[in-house]
Amino acid sequence: MRRVRASSTMDGATVVVVGSGGREHALCLALSQSPLVAAIHCLPGNAGTSRIATNHRLEDASNSGIVSYCSSVEASLIIVGPEAPLCEGLADMCANAGLPCFGPVAALAHLEGSKLHAKKTMEEAGVPTADYIELNGQSDVEAALDKFGSNPWVIKRDVLAGGKGVVVTSDRDEAREFISSSIESDGLVLLEAFLPGEEASMLVVMDGQSYVTLPASQDHKRAFDGDLGPNTGGMGAYCPAPVVNSSVYDKILNRIVIPMHEHLSNKTTPYRGVLFIGLMIDQHDDPYVVEFNVRFGDPECQVTLPLIASDVFQMLFGAATDTLDPSAVDFDSSSALTVVLASEGYPARPIKGRIVHGLQEALNDQSYRQIWVNVAGVSKDDSGALVSSGGRVLSCTAMAGSLKDAQVSAYQLLNELELEGSHFRTDIGFRAFSGE
Ligand code: AMP
Ligand code: GLY
Repeated sequence: MRRVRASSTMDGATVVVVGSGGREHALCLALSQSPLVAAIHCLPGNAGTSRIATNHRLEDASNSGIVSYCSSVEASLIIVGPEAPLCEGLADMCANAGLPCFGPVAALAHLEGSKLHAKKTMEEAGVPTADYIELNGQSDVEAALDKFGSNPWVIKRDVLAGGKGVVVTSDRDEAREFISSSIESDGLVLLEAFLPGEEASMLVVMDGQSYVTLPASQDHKRAFDGDLGPNTGGMGAYCPAPVVNSSVYDKILNRIVIPMHEHLSNKTTPYRGVLFIGLMIDQHDDPYVVEFNVRFGDPECQVTLPLIASDVFQMLFGAATDTLDPSAVDFDSSSALTVVLASEGYPARPIKGRIVHGLQEALNDQSYRQIWVNVAGVSKDDSGALVSSGGRVLSCTAMAGSLKDAQVSAYQLLNELELEGSHFRTDIGFRAFSGE
């Protein structure tokens, strides 16, 4: 394995961002603030990234096609947005080509790729999480449902399922059906104890020596107001999330972050990237891990990166090259909030191809780190109009001295946009205000 390039190449950097969503637009926006970055390329990007980066639709969009492209532009840094290329070994291939990659190698990306592996890792590292049992074709499913039956059943497939691999239900028939269809397709499934409490997301940037915890955020996964309706990729987020007060933060650090960093840095190739810790904080303010992801959350990324006052490129490059310097990372004391505009029919069957009225003007007028749009599923049609091309179309984001002001501004911006049949939640941030 060739050594990745040394940090002397940091100035005038060429950065390649892999992905096409709101998270990747947020990454490009943050990178575009850095005087160290000379060029940003996005594979394939979207109608937002094209304003600050060069989008490329590669003929060969496989991991080897991506690595060939990155070598051809002599990339200083590759940042991988989604989990799938990491689980398929993109970081391993970058290392073999001598290219610094922000994102873990496949063996460590398995933390997101397999829920069972994540559970076993937590057991080894002594990290608090819900009890579980593994079920397969030989298991007594009825006895297992009885054992975990005092709360809703939480059933998790052991594969990357694009957000569709978890069912939380009080309906025994639905639970039984999901268990049997999962065993049929995957050979096994996890039945997990239900954790009551409030969710939060903690993003930890790490390399073989160090780690930096970014301010905790909170996503809104359900489609409709009041946390009702089907699960989605995320309908909005805010940061920092007050549920992670200083005593909860200390517990997260000591019980989860430090043991996980110790575990992940103590490898032949250490974890170089961001570990997304999905948390449940219970009534005693004790944190439990609900899930690990091996990438930035979407839309958590959109509200977390702008709160980093120091150079974001420098931090990501540091993690990719094992030179992360936590003392060089500073945070703004403001708050940020983002509201997702989703297509009609999202999440089940989003209707795409409709013009997003007002978006061009909003993008022209926007001011990053004040009020701006994170573009997700939007592309240009043949006439140059901006049309929806995904379930989550965009999110309106604002940053202000108070979370309330950020909320007001984000919704003001959203009200300037029009997309036929679209929907959004009107209560993003509500939990932060419920204790006031
Ligand atoms: P996951 O993909 O593991 O994050 O699960 C998706 C969602 O299901 C989480 O964001 C939670 O809202 C819910 N969930 C997962 N595991 C549990 C659990 N053990 N207890 C309660 N809710 C859970
Ligand atoms: N917003 C949750 C996720 O990115 O998985």
